[in-house]
Amino acid sequence: MNQRTRTLGIGEDVDGWKTVMLIYNSALKEVGTKLEILNDEFQHVHQYNPIEYIKSRIKAPESIVKKLKRYGCESTISNMTEYVNDIAGIRIVCSFISDIYRMAEMIGRQNDLTVVSVKDYIKHPKRSGYKSYHMLVTIPIFLSDRVIDTKVEIQIRTIAMDFWASLEHKIYYKFEGNAPDYISRELRECSGIISMLDAKMLSLNEIVGKAKEEQEAT
Ligand code: GTP
Ligand code: MG
Repeated sequence: MNQRTRTLGIGEDVDGWKTVMLIYNSALKEVGTKLEILNDEFQHVHQYNPIEYIKSRIKAPESIVKKLKRYGCESTISNMTEYVNDIAGIRIVCSFISDIYRMAEMIGRQNDLTVVSVKDYIKHPKRSGYKSYHMLVTIPIFLSDRVIDTKVEIQIRTIAMDFWASLEHKIYYKFEGNAPDYISRELRECSGIISMLDAKMLSLNEIVGKAKEEQEAT
């Protein structure tokens, strides 16, 4: 990155900003297509879809600037590509917990994708009660004259985890992060209830699967 870009705010280097956004958008498309292919193949082999739905988004410029400020960094394009890992984000919502780990494994096996880091907030939930499986990956984006490894944050969760996270986010937002203790406690309790539901649904699914196998064997 040249000196001019480094000293300008994100909003001022319009051309650089547009190029970066084009690259992140391309990364979302690439990863999105990969996930669809994996889902289709899974459907073909196992006769069911591990993915209920996929949501993707590019982080809003204000949120990027806010995050850089929180990190104590100047709002420059090079800082944002280096330090903000979730500019391109994809959320995969699965049916069962087992599908999450299946998806993560399938993603990890993709040769052109590099897994930079993994955070398993299902095995180690956050203090808020938040659960999800996070993967930070990079994917090469082929432009006409160069290849750029681009970061994408993938969050994999069940429908129940997604339900909790969406509502918790809404509730917490109202308190601007300073919710009274009893609210945080109740939210953690809800997270426990969600986990029970997930476990029950998974075991029901396994029972039904076994029963079907036995039926087919006779
Ligand atoms: P951020 O600065 O929040 O992105 O945290 P981080 O860089 O340490 O990453 P982390 O893996 O903790 O979280 C990244 C993303 O996970 C957030 O942007 C949210 O989408 C989601 N997340 C993490 N913690 C919570 C939580 O307590 N509640 C909800 N609703 N979402 C969360
Ligand atoms: Mg984030």
